[in-house]
Amino acid sequence: MNYQNITILGAGTIGLSWAALFAATGRTVTIYDPSPEMPQRLAQFVQGTAATLTALGWHHAGDMSRIMLINDPAEAVKDADFIQESIPERLELKHVLYAAIEPQLKPDVIIGTSTSGLRLSELQAGFQHPGRLILAHPFNPPHLIPLVEVMENKHTDDGVLQSAIDFYQSIGKVCVQLHKEVPGHVANRLQAAVWREAIHLAQEGVASVEDIDKAVAYGPGLRWAAFGPTTLFHLGGGAGGIRAFCDHLGSHVENWWNDLGSPDLTPAAVDTLEAGMKHVLANADNQDLAAQRDKMVLRYILARAKQ
Ligand SMILES: NC(=O)c1ccc[n+]([C@@H]2O[C@H](COP(=O)([O-])OP(=O)(O)OC[C@H]3O[C@@H](n4cnc5c(N)ncnc54)[C@H](O)[C@@H]3O)[C@@H](O)[C@H]2O)c1
Repeated sequence: MNYQNITILGAGTIGLSWAALFAATGRTVTIYDPSPEMPQRLAQFVQGTAATLTALGWHHAGDMSRIMLINDPAEAVKDADFIQESIPERLELKHVLYAAIEPQLKPDVIIGTSTSGLRLSELQAGFQHPGRLILAHPFNPPHLIPLVEVMENKHTDDGVLQSAIDFYQSIGKVCVQLHKEVPGHVANRLQAAVWREAIHLAQEGVASVEDIDKAVAYGPGLRWAAFGPTTLFHLGGGAGGIRAFCDHLGSHVENWWNDLGSPDLTPAAVDTLEAGMKHVLANADNQDLAAQRDKMVLRYILARAKQ
């Protein structure tokens, strides 16, 4: 299945990025988003991401003629083969939208929800027939970062998840399948665990916010971009692999675990982070930082593809 007609429901930070990617791959993209600023935001975003999407090999990058805006959700989905829902993270809002589109859906459509934190089962309650809805959580920005966390459950129709995985993979995404519902899925929980300790270390005065960020970016972050933590520690174990690593260093790691902090995001913690960011922002504004990030990530993705 080629999924030629794609509908984007909600085109903010995430939906616009999905739209630019889908259009760049040659799909026809229909967007429903009630924001009056949509036409301008869409044009700016598609233009702004054209160079990146071209570098990723998508020949239709920047082609606005493949994207149309439609003001009515039911109208926007009626020809859709695949729908990517990225409206705000509010359950009742998503339920209202699902009820509005359901009567118009083609029977074999697939709907991926980008939700970061809502559970698939609670979202399915918005449909009379929830079998076509799956979790399809991207990492920002989805036109660049490959990861999509996907999940089905007992209410999902047979074959829907696999068809969605095949489709996402065909456009360069890397899918990770969840087998259980947990808040934050997998990747955000891992990020949250590292960030919690970063905040703890900053609040304890162990190092500055800037240096703690450097400790990630110039150390483990570089390795994590290649492999995940278990594979890396397997390599750290030498010929004996992960078992040798655990035998050799496991008790030390356990000591570190026992000493980790569990700070809350109190006003004082936010003050510490904001004060720390002042040093980072002395050399570059947000736009510079975002551009640097995207350039480095793009180079890495291209280098990895050549491996
Ligand atoms: N921002 C992130 O880093 C990120 C990452 C991954 C997933 N997500 C998920 O993606 C979804 C969207 O998040 P976002 O950050 O893009 O939000 P956003 O606020 O940037 O964009 C939401 C868009 O939806 C539109 N909208 C509002 N109500 C609507 C409706 N009823 N129908 C259609 N469009 C509607 C808004 O006009 C806006 O353009 C959320 O579920 C979020 O959890 C966000």
